[in-house]
Amino acid sequence: MADITTDVLIIGTGPAGTATAALLSSYGVDNLIVNRYRWLANTPRAHITNQRCMEVLRDLGRDVEDEAYMFATGQDLMGENVFCVSLAGEELGRMKSWGTHPMSRAEHQLSSPCHMNDLPQTFMEPLLFKTACTRGTQARMSTEFLSFAQDDDGVTATCRDRLTGKDFTIRARYLVGADGANSLVAQQAGLPFEGRMGVGGSMNILFRADLSRHVAHRPSVLYWVMQPGADVGGIGMGLVRMVRPWNEWLIVWGYDIGQPAPVVDAAMATNVARQLVGDPELEIELLSANTWTVNNMFATNMQEGRVFIMGDAAHRHPPSNGLGSNTSIQDAFNLAWKLAMVVKGEASPTLLDSYSEERVPVARQIVTRANKSIGEFGPIFEALGMDGGVDHDKIQRNMDQRCDATPAAERQREALRKAIAFKKYEFDCHGVEMNQRYASGAAVTVGEPEPAYPQDAELHYAPTTWPGARLPHAWVYDRAGARHSTLDLTGRGRFTLLTGIGGEAWVAAAEAVGDALGINVRTHVIGPRRDYEDHGGEWAELREVTDAGCVLVRPDHHVAWRSAGLGADPAAELTRVLRAVLGR
Ligand code: FDA
Repeated sequence: MADITTDVLIIGTGPAGTATAALLSSYGVDNLIVNRYRWLANTPRAHITNQRCMEVLRDLGRDVEDEAYMFATGQDLMGENVFCVSLAGEELGRMKSWGTHPMSRAEHQLSSPCHMNDLPQTFMEPLLFKTACTRGTQARMSTEFLSFAQDDDGVTATCRDRLTGKDFTIRARYLVGADGANSLVAQQAGLPFEGRMGVGGSMNILFRADLSRHVAHRPSVLYWVMQPGADVGGIGMGLVRMVRPWNEWLIVWGYDIGQPAPVVDAAMATNVARQLVGDPELEIELLSANTWTVNNMFATNMQEGRVFIMGDAAHRHPPSNGLGSNTSIQDAFNLAWKLAMVVKGEASPTLLDSYSEERVPVARQIVTRANKSIGEFGPIFEALGMDGGVDHDKIQRNMDQRCDATPAAERQREALRKAIAFKKYEFDCHGVEMNQRYASGAAVTVGEPEPAYPQDAELHYAPTTWPGARLPHAWVYDRAGARHSTLDLTGRGRFTLLTGIGGEAWVAAAEAVGDALGINVRTHVIGPRRDYEDHGGEWAELREVTDAGCVLVRPDHHVAWRSAGLGADPAAELTRVLRAVLGR
């Protein structure tokens, strides 16, 4: 007999675990979360928060979304991605990033009701944790997960109370390993991985210092410092990252992974900060320093029976593109509604198979992209003449030569401009953030092939209602004239059917089928004098079905199925589709 019982046990209070807990509690599912430490993230690792991640927070409630914006640095202060020899020294170039280029900004605004922002992990985790606990999650801190055993009916986990040193057991129907890059859950579940850990070494130096005079005129999250000797390993050069404008900073500095990790003491941290800022007199208030490794690894299966892994437990990669926490929270959005419907008896456990089917391709994509982005600094080094060799004088001469009035220098300047512009694949990579399309039994197509991407799929989001894709965002208006995103009409733990004038039979069918299956399918008719009006014609432009057709949307905003027109027997069609998705 276990000491404690719950429906879902979550290991880890990082972005993945707290998001899962917040979503499960919002869906009314009993859950317990444990963390071996007494509190949440103590350093602001993740920070770039993308639109898709914000859509998950918005789904948790406008209060949650608004609180995130309240603590975040706004998009307008994120965008001048600077390359320089030091903050006080010469600027080598810059590019508009994170959706701040006017063309990119338009794409962002058209794609989502939410906007990108910079929310350090030290704010994101407490927000999600608070949301979870106030909605019902039981949290046990200073509690270390040790092992699990699973059987046909559930999972028994052994944990240690680190305050008393006593071990105890928790019995759960499902176990979620959101326990980070050294996941014990993944290891004990024997889940398979592709790739390698420890492909580079980096150190974080967190400090306070007012650097306004160097940065306020070119507001950015990231200042890349390229100077002879900075290319040690890890992410390849010095990075000065804004944590709070403009007096709290995180320096990321590489070390040679072939050597033991350095001990970063106050003297070393101050030296590194002085070198990268370019001010030999700079005084810093050192908050913390630690080392970490660059990884290139992902799970090719994220489920073993009743045990799931998510977040860094499943995909381990460098911070490039800012995808880690964002993807972790989206893993949670994918799994939580499925667990909820299975726990409540609304879906068969086979629905849970779609989690790994849908998220492994995302894990592969983001790990590959993040590691590729590191390599794409190469052309910048090359253009500056910083590639190869440790002859610092020679590197300095190469860098100086780009200022000459010679054809070679002109070519060098062009190469540098192009190399910096190419970094949009890291710093303005909207497609990777927004184009996640799923292929599994939980997205039912009627033989329609996946639509091609009209532009580069990594850089540009392509809206579609093709089953498996995220529902496109369009503004529609209620009868009082207030605007709502199509995403606001859906989600919050329920399936939603969207139709138009002439599609009322779908509404009746959804109610009847929902009653028969014991699930609540929300319905909305969009059209003149209906629940919502499409005054701008945005929805009509994007929906890819006729007025009398329908789009059935899953609780995680992804399209489950669509019908171009009314069809002969809407109730039979919806029954077939929902049974297929729910495995019933
Ligand atoms: P995470 O590692 O955050 O949490 C794991 C949890 O499990 C912790 O609570 C831990 O204590 C707990 N745990 C582990 N083992 C346990 C055990 N045995 N028992 C109990 N508890 C246990 N991402 C992003 O989206 N945007 C960004 O801009 C950046 N930037 C960035 C910069 C830097 C310098 C780094 C190092 C990383 C980033 N990231 C990022 C990545 C991001 O920090 C990372 O992907 C997420 O923290 C992963 O969240 P998880 O919840 O999966 O794991």
